[in-house]
Amino acid sequence: MRHLLSCAELDRAEAVRILDTAEAMAETSGRTIRKLPTLRGRTVVTLFFEDSTRTRISFEAAAKRLSADVINFSAKGSSVSKGESLKDTAQTLQAMGADGVVVRHPSSGAPHRLAHAGWIDVPVLNAGDGTHQHPTQALLDAFTLRRRLHGGPAPVGTALDGARVVIVGDVLHSRVARSNVDLLTTLGAEVTLVAPPTLLPVGVGGWPATVAHDLDDALVTARPDAVMMLRVQRERMSAAGGGFFPSPLEYHRRYGLDGARLGTLPERAVVMHPGPMNRGLEISAEAADSPRSTVVEQVANGVSVRMAVLYLLLAGHEAREGTEL
Ligand code: CP
Repeated sequence: MRHLLSCAELDRAEAVRILDTAEAMAETSGRTIRKLPTLRGRTVVTLFFEDSTRTRISFEAAAKRLSADVINFSAKGSSVSKGESLKDTAQTLQAMGADGVVVRHPSSGAPHRLAHAGWIDVPVLNAGDGTHQHPTQALLDAFTLRRRLHGGPAPVGTALDGARVVIVGDVLHSRVARSNVDLLTTLGAEVTLVAPPTLLPVGVGGWPATVAHDLDDALVTARPDAVMMLRVQRERMSAAGGGFFPSPLEYHRRYGLDGARLGTLPERAVVMHPGPMNRGLEISAEAADSPRSTVVEQVANGVSVRMAVLYLLLAGHEAREGTEL
């Protein structure tokens, strides 16, 4: 694995290796050793052309816990506003000594272009591109679910065979949904997507998932281990010139996870959300703050998962030969 661009490119063994490495990272940084020397002398650049709280900060925290230097670039306030291209921006940052680039971009495919156009010669990690992929989000979701299903750290080699996951909401604009469908099915889970027809992409029938429109029916039929609520991406609807349909009130009534629906879930089912949440729209405060919610856990696990991918991509021969952390 040279880059991390899409969950569709990960096979089962690679995905499980990342989760196992993240477990080792969580164990190590949760004990007395808070910082590992693994990436000392290397520089990680975070290149964000779109806003972020969780992903950017947790990549920075992960790189620093591995002793890397970190340069944070945000398009806002940079020479991008003067028209500088992605190629020139990336080459400028590589010239300053980047050993790895973490990129978030509003255009689907931008990280792939950065990795394969020959502009730069370092590993590229996709931190979210358009409506396409957000691989580290899906990996931290899988890590969180794996732990919850095992009641704690999962044994090495554990996948998600037979786990049932219902993903609800704005699938049309969601790179999180695409990444999760790819990764969860690679790991052996069964996925049901629930959304109004207007918020499903063309071609969703070809995805390896069951598609439904009635949330209450789907929750009864699927008997999920996890319900993953998606953020309604109103900013992408406005950018596309579209309105919000159905209305927010109607959306919450038909597709929101509220206290009543929470009560119908199987006893061990967890509630997931990648954040940021629209409280009162796709998820009620009661569901978001309930003991079943893994929202805060997902954020914490994001640091371990991002440590794992930085280690596997940037640590060179040590990571390839499986040197003990
Ligand atoms: N889940 C996620 O990607 O959050 P941020 O946009 O805050 O990074």
